Amino acid sequence: MFKAHHLLGIKDLDTEDIEHIFKTADNFKEVINRPIKKVPSLRDVTIVNLFFENSTRTRISFELAEKRLSADVLNFSASSSSVSKGETLIDTVRNILAMKVDMVVLRHPMAGAGVFLSRHISARIINAGDGTHEHPTQALLDAFSIREKLGTLKKVKVAIVGDILHSRVALSNILLLQKMGAEVMVCGPSTLIPKFINKLGVKVEQNLKKALQWCDAANMLRIQLERQDIRYFPSLREYSMQYGLNREIMNSVNKEILIMHPGPINRGVEITSDVADSPHSIILDQVENGVAIRMAVLYLLAGKKATS
Ligand code: CP
Repeated sequence: MFKAHHLLGIKDLDTEDIEHIFKTADNFKEVINRPIKKVPSLRDVTIVNLFFENSTRTRISFELAEKRLSADVLNFSASSSSVSKGETLIDTVRNILAMKVDMVVLRHPMAGAGVFLSRHISARIINAGDGTHEHPTQALLDAFSIREKLGTLKKVKVAIVGDILHSRVALSNILLLQKMGAEVMVCGPSTLIPKFINKLGVKVEQNLKKALQWCDAANMLRIQLERQDIRYFPSLREYSMQYGLNREIMNSVNKEILIMHPGPINRGVEITSDVADSPHSIILDQVENGVAIRMAVLYLLAGKKATS
């Protein structure tokens, strides 16, 4: 039995729920690799994708997942809506729900936007990224991709490298991986490691080579310049020299490491093309798995019986 009413953050899920999502996603991954990729599971369900912030992967992945499940899909983009005329988030959502919409997928630049909305509406909400807070479906697809390649998450060592301070992907990954028995290290310049990190029980490393020597999987994060109000390092070139993943440092470590990135990639900054496109990279597997994971989350939150 799936217990969560919303998926606002990883705290909404226990290990049983996460296993349930993974097993359901295993089934949906098989479905989306069939010649006919569609199942009727959410045929009577209407879902709105509310995006108040730019997105490529998450928006398309949710829309495709909804269509593969035969849901009715509405897409809302803040830039072309009445938000520009001063309409509030609650009024926007209440008006959309008045048209008999069942579920809301919400991306918003403010941390806690989904939690706030959940106090005002009864429809189920999935957080598709809220500011610097959480991105739970990204963490689910990241962990699912590691489990798929390594067979387990138990005792797997994952290094999350880069701009931890401004990353919702980092927090959701840390919370989920630890729940599932993985060990987590964060690596980056001290200015981009949040002060509360020690409370999360992760290892902290400032040397990229040492982090790579320790880990089984390295999740490379983008420098989130759009969320930075001050300068946290002298220049992108200097950041790249210290924390950029390139062929030279990979060769010097000389071990098998899964290379991950949630996207969008800034090639030549946090990762070079020869590493991003190498056989060790599972970046496009993550994107493929995102559809199956989002199908599983939508399906389980909608509370339907399995369809094969
Ligand atoms: N990983 C991710 O959230 O990418 P988008 O911002 O393109 O959705």
